[in-house]
Amino acid sequence: MAEKLVLPGPASEELGASVAKKLGLELLSGEFKVFPDGESKFTVEGRVSGKSVYIVQSTYPPVDQHLFQLMLAAHNLSQEGARVTAVVPYLAYARQDKEFLPGEGVTLGTVGHLLRSAGIGRLATVDIHSAEGLSLFSFPTYSVSAIPALVDHARRNLPLHDPVVISPDFGASKRTEAFAQLLGVKFEKLEKSRDRTTGEVSVKEAKLEVKGKDVVIVDDIISTGGTVKAAAAEVLRNGGNRVSALCVHGLFVGDAAEKIEKAGVKDLVSTNTVPGKFSKVDVSDALVAHLKTLEE
Ligand code: R5P
Repeated sequence: MAEKLVLPGPASEELGASVAKKLGLELLSGEFKVFPDGESKFTVEGRVSGKSVYIVQSTYPPVDQHLFQLMLAAHNLSQEGARVTAVVPYLAYARQDKEFLPGEGVTLGTVGHLLRSAGIGRLATVDIHSAEGLSLFSFPTYSVSAIPALVDHARRNLPLHDPVVISPDFGASKRTEAFAQLLGVKFEKLEKSRDRTTGEVSVKEAKLEVKGKDVVIVDDIISTGGTVKAAAAEVLRNGGNRVSALCVHGLFVGDAAEKIEKAGVKDLVSTNTVPGKFSKVDVSDALVAHLKTLEE
């Protein structure tokens, strides 16, 4: 069996090291460098020919830099004769999985082509935005779920009394329903629409049975915070009590967190697919469980 190594990329140093430790694998040494003009470079140390390398690199902002670092490392290692598996906890561009407006590129498909050309043979991610997105890849891919870990966190840490789980839109509803089922509580969904040109979000008025109840809004991604802000407003308009917002990938672009807190959300939690102030839930066990099933 090929020797396995883990290369934590600059975007996922801690998570990559934790995955390696839990798998009992050595880290591969390599240097990622960014030049003053923004160009990147990757240099591997030692020989990797015939070895299997798991590159752990999330692609949160700066998205293209993190993505390119992944491609540079993958190409270098595959050229040197390694088998490359990409572990991309947050897979950027996953929301661009269709031609929403005429003439738009299906960017996730482009990303799939580029990753394959870079020499990546397999990819594992966490809660990809839509399962259909994976069909745009022409090599084996797998999306691990962080929902059980988020439920565990909610149970242990959130002061929830008689809670209701809310999905802010139909797209998120399967994942959110799974969260509610695991928590053993009621689930309701809102209807969100987004202006495809301006990006502005609006949530349709709804009759929610949340009066006096604690409410947990669950989504896959929080980016600008517009979705959670609009969902929280609707929950509070319906008489909801304490509002918490949980997501897998907390990008919190710009003033997203402040916006959400101002909207009345008391607890804000994300996972460490994107490291930051709110990433209180660890996805390493979920990733490790999947990586252990891979054959060499
Ligand atoms: C979109 O459908 C996703 O599931 C999220 O709801 C969305 O990406 C959140 O983005 P924002 O925080 O910018 O509203």
